[in-house]
Amino acid sequence: MRTPIIAGNWKMNKNPEQTQAFLEAIKGKLPESGVEAVIAAPAVDLNALTWFSKDEPLKTAAQNSYWEDEGAFTGETSPKVLSEMGIDYVVIGHSERREYFHETDEDVNKKAHAIIKNRMTPIICCGETLEQREAGDTNSWVAGQVEAALKGLTDEEVGNLVIAYEPIWAIGTGKTASADQAQEVCGHIRETVKKLYNEGTAEKVRIQYGGSVKPANVKELMAKKDIDGGLVGGASLDPEDFLALVNFQN
Ligand code: PGA
Repeated sequence: MRTPIIAGNWKMNKNPEQTQAFLEAIKGKLPESGVEAVIAAPAVDLNALTWFSKDEPLKTAAQNSYWEDEGAFTGETSPKVLSEMGIDYVVIGHSERREYFHETDEDVNKKAHAIIKNRMTPIICCGETLEQREAGDTNSWVAGQVEAALKGLTDEEVGNLVIAYEPIWAIGTGKTASADQAQEVCGHIRETVKKLYNEGTAEKVRIQYGGSVKPANVKELMAKKDIDGGLVGGASLDPEDFLALVNFQN
């Protein structure tokens, strides 16, 4: 039985004071069980987030990390330090990072290894462009991204991580993939993990859908058999919407 995981991806929004205000607004209102609620905050807000999460059922995520623990890498964030801060998850391979910061499949794979070595859980993003979808390349493209990201990981490591399917054409556009479209690709990702590893690993790995998820469509998406969660950008910035998302079962 896979525990649903709803993660807010704030992207480059909110300062520490705004983070504090958001956390005050959700205090005492998060589900105690049955779903994992996660916020992926900008690095500058992670301190505020980890303090709050000590007393609340909220998991914490960074939006990126480097693959080396320390050294002369100006501007990068150490996975070792994120782990020491108590961060639970790290989002890697987001399409914005791939597009604007030239993150490659190989980088994503190195980051996945570093995050796991530092006892955190990667949330590995994958997804196709509109051109790739229209050309009928979605499944092969996404399977290729997943295979490259998981290279060298054991079946146990893969069973414990999270894969986020985020069609690029649905991110921040208001265009959600239909629940059936999202299910089709999430199902294909699970098949890919089964082929690369085994059935037990495929049944264990959690797969999120991301791309214009909001309170109005979360229930329908979460009802699909291979969708175990959401990675939510815009709608996670508002505390009421975030609460509605994580309480989708009520
Ligand atoms: P969105 O972003 O919910 O604003 O579409 C999703 C994401 O990029 O993680």
